[in-house]
Amino acid sequence: MTITSIEDLRLMAKRRVPRMFYEYADSGSWTESTYRANERDFGQILLRQRVAVDLARRDTRSTMVGHEVAMPVAIAPTGLTGMQHADGEILAARAAKRFGIPFTLSTMSICSIEDVAQGTDGHPFWFQLYVMRDRAFVERLIARAKAANCSALVLTLDLQISGQRHKDLKNGLSAPPRLTLRNLLNVATKPRWLLGMAGTPRRTLGNIFGHVTGVDEMGSLSEWTARQFDPTLNWNDVRWIKEKWGGPLILKGIQDVEDARLAVNAGADAIIVSNHGGRQLDGAPSSITALPAIVDAVGSRIEVHMDGGVRSGQDVLKAVALGARGTYIGRAMLYGLGAGGEEGVMQALRILHKELDLTMAFCGRTSIADVDRGILLRAVPSLEPYLPGAAAAVPVAAAAE
Ligand code: GLV
Repeated sequence: MTITSIEDLRLMAKRRVPRMFYEYADSGSWTESTYRANERDFGQILLRQRVAVDLARRDTRSTMVGHEVAMPVAIAPTGLTGMQHADGEILAARAAKRFGIPFTLSTMSICSIEDVAQGTDGHPFWFQLYVMRDRAFVERLIARAKAANCSALVLTLDLQISGQRHKDLKNGLSAPPRLTLRNLLNVATKPRWLLGMAGTPRRTLGNIFGHVTGVDEMGSLSEWTARQFDPTLNWNDVRWIKEKWGGPLILKGIQDVEDARLAVNAGADAIIVSNHGGRQLDGAPSSITALPAIVDAVGSRIEVHMDGGVRSGQDVLKAVALGARGTYIGRAMLYGLGAGGEEGVMQALRILHKELDLTMAFCGRTSIADVDRGILLRAVPSLEPYLPGAAAAVPVAAAAE
């Protein structure tokens, strides 16, 4: 099959990745309404076509927290990435390095901080931190990220407690995981995945396993992890982490203007408008609809980034037009990875880049710096004023309302 879209990669990943891990990625919490809204609301925004603009020279480059990026896209931190494909985090980080965009490693990764540093020959990447109850462990994670040359810290604020994801519960992907017969039978139908997994030693949470005492097998590891997410996380912790880290700090999981202001006060360098890919508060607005008010409130004082529902270059462009300095791709990257490892991620990035470049040009703009709200149209323009007799066709009672 000729791959032309992120959707093609998703379908291929669905065939190649064991169901429990594919569904871990392709799911949201409870009814999944926010998960769906993230994608759907991008589709409601219309783009304004312009013509007869010299489009010969075009530039999709930009910067995110001072780092040059080939396009305003970074790879989002996603848990268990190394379960979509053997050595997944290393492969995705290599693709990001080749493409010239940041890679963010999750605390809940399979490959460790040190694995990724080694696998990319010391190329800087970003590290995402969850705040664990064991603060000494958090300090060690920060020190390890520094030692590995990580160039920004992404602190997640919206997962001190966890949303309920029905698919994970049904698949036994809980803490500790249940190895059901159904899962084993399904894994047996994924030979390519199995072969990869058989060839790597990295099959557990690499940042944790071997770094805390009393955790020596999968059961104790997942129980430790489930117990460790700290429900007391608050702005004082953010300030403490900022001090310990000392480098660029990005706060992830902001949905509200008031929280955006608090993030500025806490000294963050950037915020990510995010609802955790629709995996936490089901019923929260989509990220793209939450973005503009936050940009208007704090955009002059802090970089505003966003994630959630980005599946195309058009989506990236719309987010940038609404004021996002950068966007993050989680699932779009995971689908590429599940479909084809490092080359699959490269393919996902090339698809997004080409869509972004061409769409920006159709809108009559030649560089990311020139993209603003002027390229957007109000959603679903009405034909009403142009249709003869339209007013007369409205029943009198309805017209009076
Ligand atoms: C972890 O970040 C998850 O959403 O599963």
